[in-house]
Amino acid sequence: MRVYNFSPGPSVLPLPVLERAAREMTDANGSGQSVMEMSHRSAAFKPIIEGAEALLRELMGIPPNYKVLFLQGGASLQFSMVPLNLGAGEPGSPRKTAAYIETGIWAKKAAAEAAKYLEPVIRAGSAGKSYTYIPAAPPPDPADAYYHITLNNTIVGTRWAAIPETGAVPLAADISSCILSEPLDVSKFGILYAGAQKNLGPAGTTVVIIREDLIGRAPSWTPAMLRYDIHAEEGSLYNTPPCYGIYIIGLVLEWLKELGGVEAIAALNREKAEFFYNYLDDSRHFYSPVERSSRSIMNIPFIPKGDPAQRKAVEARFVKEAAAAALVNLAGHRLVGGMRASIYNSMPLEGVRALVDFMKKFEQTL
Ligand SMILES: Cc1ncc(COP(=O)(O)O)c(C=O)c1O
Repeated sequence: MRVYNFSPGPSVLPLPVLERAAREMTDANGSGQSVMEMSHRSAAFKPIIEGAEALLRELMGIPPNYKVLFLQGGASLQFSMVPLNLGAGEPGSPRKTAAYIETGIWAKKAAAEAAKYLEPVIRAGSAGKSYTYIPAAPPPDPADAYYHITLNNTIVGTRWAAIPETGAVPLAADISSCILSEPLDVSKFGILYAGAQKNLGPAGTTVVIIREDLIGRAPSWTPAMLRYDIHAEEGSLYNTPPCYGIYIIGLVLEWLKELGGVEAIAALNREKAEFFYNYLDDSRHFYSPVERSSRSIMNIPFIPKGDPAQRKAVEARFVKEAAAAALVNLAGHRLVGGMRASIYNSMPLEGVRALVDFMKKFEQTL
């Protein structure tokens, strides 16, 4: 029995991908081995990593002057690698600044980590309103080493509707929870990064897309494993990469291509999100706390209306009864509460319809 899984990450994956992986578990591509058993330098693994990269390039329209890296450590390690490689200096040199737009808890964590290597400056943010909107993008300061945004804020459910223009200052973006959800002009960015565990595949793999001229700026003291230049030179094979994760990413990308690519999934994602927001906006018992122009199409938090003292009990009952109806992982993030439906690429429209049907019935009990 499959449930509808609304988890923010790790998240639902396409059933045909899981079934194919199961079929190939003990014998991948006629090699007589599982991908988990293959040498990462073998002829059997080469087409797997090269195929995943080629498909990602094709689906995202990644220009040739960008490198694609398959790394480990999650998006959180990129909170360190971005400042280390793009702005940190040799001992004794003046500390550079970098712009951070604080649109949520992950953005805040990214800035906090950067403070170990340079001077992050929060040039705009929405903390004062519980991150329920995306602020206007301030113009770039040419002195900043880069300009960092979180394109989709998984916890609070906001999304940048327009990409900031940052001129010569490289734009760095955390796209963990929106990669491949809709078309993105990669050429506007200096670096993009994403943990795989939402729209791409299993946790443990991180995808980095970086413009070539930004590679090779890390100071000499940077640990080898944290240097983009080393990973780029070695084609993501400096050490053993997360082979099985890369293989699953390849299968997910094949599935996405067969579906019609990013344009097709974007249309479906918009339809799912619109359906759910329309229901929420008409609901007498639930509401979306996010400003309309900033709403995410991947993560949709919702809150019961009415007496805040009774909210917690309603939320707990909601999550429990939804799970009993095979609609799982609907609790909001532990820091913000409420509920949240994450409706990534692999969540079918039927799943969102089933959730709305359940919510309509639940409303009758309030
Ligand atoms: C936008 C965003 N950034 C960063 C992270 C942290 O990712 P990881 O657990 O891969 O380090 C998450 C996790 O959910 C996220 O949603």
